[in-house]
Amino acid sequence: MRDKPLIAIGAIVVLIVAVIAFAVGRKTGGESSPHPAATTMAATTPAPAAASTAEEAPHGNQIDAIRRGVPIDQEGAPPLLARVENADIKRNRAYPMQPPTIPHTIDNYQIDKNSNRCLLCHARANADKFQAPPVSVTHYMDRDDQFLATISPRRYFCNQCHVVQTDAKPLVANNFKDIDTVLSEQPQKKAN
Ligand code: HEC
Ligand code: HEC
Repeated sequence: MRDKPLIAIGAIVVLIVAVIAFAVGRKTGGESSPHPAATTMAATTPAPAAASTAEEAPHGNQIDAIRRGVPIDQEGAPPLLARVENADIKRNRAYPMQPPTIPHTIDNYQIDKNSNRCLLCHARANADKFQAPPVSVTHYMDRDDQFLATISPRRYFCNQCHVVQTDAKPLVANNFKDIDTVLSEQPQKKAN
């Protein structure tokens, strides 16, 4: 019972020492290591700036491909596979030499050394029978722009360039405008 005031005084002394030590530690810490502090500042400051410019892009379905924002100690649910559309509807091409997307499913359409299922319908000779658009002349040209009698080897594996249409949302936002949009935006400039 007699120790009680002593313990209280001891506790206050320890507290004061701790506060002083903390303050001194902070001061010297700030003085002795200005470089790490400066570099972390430098590393972190441009990031908000970059983020603000990125905000101008329309908001796509932004994903972090590896974790998709799921904390590291949790297992995320994988996103559903995109559904292949089979509607026979052509999509606009974003630029003149874009390989058109395939407006039908291609499940089990074999393409190998011996057979090419796509050419069953898209070869010039068969196109009328299947009412399919025949492959264009570029598919018969070799790399020296010479026309071959049969499909050019470099255009043989169709899905190297042509992809099916899916209902997938864009993975990242982007500001892409096709050339018609770009041209239609600057008539005043041309008039000057
Ligand atoms: C059974 C016949 C058939 C087969 C096999 C076939 N297609 Fe088609 N394809 C068509 C038809 C018909 C169209 C026209 C649009 C429609 O009716 O779907 C077409 C359209 C296309 C178009 C769109 C052309 C354009 O101008 O927009 C592409 C590209 C295409 N097919 C690529 C392929 C590829 C690549 C394969 C093989 C993986 C393939 N097709 C296999 C019948 C076929
Ligand atoms: C190296 C890339 C590439 C490969 C491989 C390729 N294509 Fe194409 N394809 C294109 C491009 C680019 C276009 C659009 C411009 C053009 O017609 O050359 C096109 C256009 C087409 C068209 C539309 C033709 C038209 O007149 O509008 C069809 C149909 C087509 N391809 C089918 C096929 C088939 C079937 C195969 C496989 C035998 C194939 N393509 C292989 C790049 C390719």
